[in-house]
Amino acid sequence: MKKIRKAVIPVAGLGTRFLPATKAIPKEMLTIVDRPTIQYIVEEVVASGIDEVVLITSEGKSAIENHFDYDFQLDTVLNEKNKYQLREELNNISNLIDIVSVRQKKPLGLGHAIWMARNVIGNEPFMVLLGDDLVRSEIPCCKQMIDLYNNVQQSIVAIQRVPMDQTNQYGIVEGNPTEFERTYMVENMVEKPAPGTSKSDMAIIGRYLLMPEVFDFLEKTQPGHGGEIQLTDALVQLANKGGMYAYEFEGNRYDAGDKLGYLKAVVDFAMQHQTLGESFREFICSVCDESE
Ligand code: G1P
Repeated sequence: MKKIRKAVIPVAGLGTRFLPATKAIPKEMLTIVDRPTIQYIVEEVVASGIDEVVLITSEGKSAIENHFDYDFQLDTVLNEKNKYQLREELNNISNLIDIVSVRQKKPLGLGHAIWMARNVIGNEPFMVLLGDDLVRSEIPCCKQMIDLYNNVQQSIVAIQRVPMDQTNQYGIVEGNPTEFERTYMVENMVEKPAPGTSKSDMAIIGRYLLMPEVFDFLEKTQPGHGGEIQLTDALVQLANKGGMYAYEFEGNRYDAGDKLGYLKAVVDFAMQHQTLGESFREFICSVCDESE
């Protein structure tokens, strides 16, 4: 059985849902409490035992690479000012994990973005984590999926149940329960079904564990929903050929690329924060009392 060693994180998207905040900075650099959203994703990868991250980037995204890089000037200044703890914190970020970047030169869709990683991934199963989807959970979502993979050794997509009137915002999975808890065998998938047409409420969230054969399908996938090359369309074929599981992960998931989803993530992560959590919870309670 091949170990999951690499994770692809596509970060090439423009972030139009979050304008004007994302006009000059990548959406992945928006802060949740004290860290940019992308750091939560990379920390999830590290906590799941993965060795290497492949970022799929585009023009204007260098702030993400810089965030995980070593900053000689900053390190020297912090050292001179005896700010050792902060210095260590920053050095820890640059030592988190090996990062490779691949440029997606044209915005042809999520499927195309993942296909750009084919040479770096090679012939082994790998994770995909979408930067917009933040999951707060006891066991990292990515780790939950790797644990399942160790039993089933097949591709897995993470899902959550959504209200039927929101199914048009997601890739939707149809499937049947299996012997494993919270797990379904995928029968079909549809990318963002038209309102009222979805046969299921199981929505794909941005965590995938994929067999390398997905690249063969991605290579032949034609533009689909929204005129883009959709990952979901290639996954339908991968599921038909090799089988695929849908896994209802345990945890809270937030769409941090959406204004309301982002605010919810900030509040949830702030309430759980080690040093700020208690004061923040008190503050939230007082605001709720006032508004009653
Ligand atoms: C992408 C996928 C979709 C999935 C969603 C989860 O869509 O194409 O299948 O349900 O991520 O966040 P996007 O939100 O990038 O349009």
